[in-house]
Amino acid sequence: MTSSAATQWHDFLRASLTSGTLIRVSVGGYCRRDQSIRKLLVRPVLIREQPMLSFVWRHDTRDITRNLAHEEGLALLAELLGRDFLAATLFTTERTVEIQFRKGRDPRLRVLPPESTEPPSLSHDRPKQRVMPTETRPWMPALGVTTETGTVKAGMEAKHRQIHRFVELLDHLTREAAAVLKKDSEATVSLVDMGSGKGYLTFAAYEFLTREFGTRVRVRGIEVRRELVDLCNRVAAECGFENLRFSAGSIEGYPLESVDIVVALHACDTATDDALARGIEAGAALIIAAPCCHKEIRPQLKAPPALADALRHGILRERHAEFVTDALRAALLEWAGYDTRVFEFISPEHTTKNLMIAAVKRIGQGDRRAMEATVNELVKTYGIEKQRLATHLKFRL
Ligand SMILES: C[S@@+](CC[C@H](N)C(=O)[O-])C[C@H]1O[C@@H](n2cnc3c(N)ncnc32)[C@H](O)[C@@H]1O
Repeated sequence: MTSSAATQWHDFLRASLTSGTLIRVSVGGYCRRDQSIRKLLVRPVLIREQPMLSFVWRHDTRDITRNLAHEEGLALLAELLGRDFLAATLFTTERTVEIQFRKGRDPRLRVLPPESTEPPSLSHDRPKQRVMPTETRPWMPALGVTTETGTVKAGMEAKHRQIHRFVELLDHLTREAAAVLKKDSEATVSLVDMGSGKGYLTFAAYEFLTREFGTRVRVRGIEVRRELVDLCNRVAAECGFENLRFSAGSIEGYPLESVDIVVALHACDTATDDALARGIEAGAALIIAAPCCHKEIRPQLKAPPALADALRHGILRERHAEFVTDALRAALLEWAGYDTRVFEFISPEHTTKNLMIAAVKRIGQGDRRAMEATVNELVKTYGIEKQRLATHLKFRL
């Protein structure tokens, strides 16, 4: 950031920090490789009495935060602007200052009146915006997540975190899939949770969708274990959740004519493939899966020469089987017409089964032959002869 406009913008920023008038900086126009970055937000905070700058990188499905001392933060912003990000707006109580970087031309600086003259709050621990309200949900005590007064029960902390994280993700992903999700129409939005277990995430999804779409929501949980289905139906009825029902049965056998969102979280082994296939066949706008155990590929793995020695070790072989299975699932989803991402669902410190595959139905075909080649290359590299999702999709390996 060397031009005079850029220097001026930076001077305004430094002056606002010194005078305590800085509210925030919003940085956009990301132009590097990480497709998931949406924008960067910077605001002043006090951490243990120390004035700092909090940098929040907004990604599609999560935020990454770094708190830096003022000088370090200013230096980082100077480095990023014009290189990684092409636009920034500085909000202070005295003025708003925009800068826009343009290819081959000097950056453009605009100084505007302040949006707000209210002094900034420096509290680091601002109440975290949760997509799911934190007050007592009636189904949470009924399913044993919290007490009647809303305290998380001992041993249920990880589940509680997972529920909140899932709803955050659902929020992000339904926005992403909005164009194919009938969000603006009056049609019913339907979600099927395959392998719903005790229903924690099904109830959370129901609540979230009801808040988003009102009564035009239909949520189903499919579960082989009858006692869990009965429990969930009882709790749904007690809570007055009219459009939430659970059915006993297998994922493979469930009649799925039309559905908007398919969820399969920790469905065992190839049950994940069955759920993905059902979602694809039904043309779901959004498919979300968190795979569990990966048994099908492991015995088939023929290591490429460079990996042969490494894959003698059980744990590496197991992890590699997981990697290959999920890479293949993601590639097959792409081939089947879905823009697909694989990312960490929750921190690995809580569970190692933390991978998530999220697939949004593509508008338009995409390059099917290239995607077919990707699957074939993967299959050839590892000598895979059989994979359940490929079988369902009639993709010849
Ligand atoms: C590990 S639990 C996960 C439950 C829930 N999705 C969650 O993440 O909290 C997996 C559930 O999937 C069910 N399940 C496994 N295979 C299934 C299948 N083929 N059809 C229906 N349910 C299945 C199991 O009975 C079990 O309750």
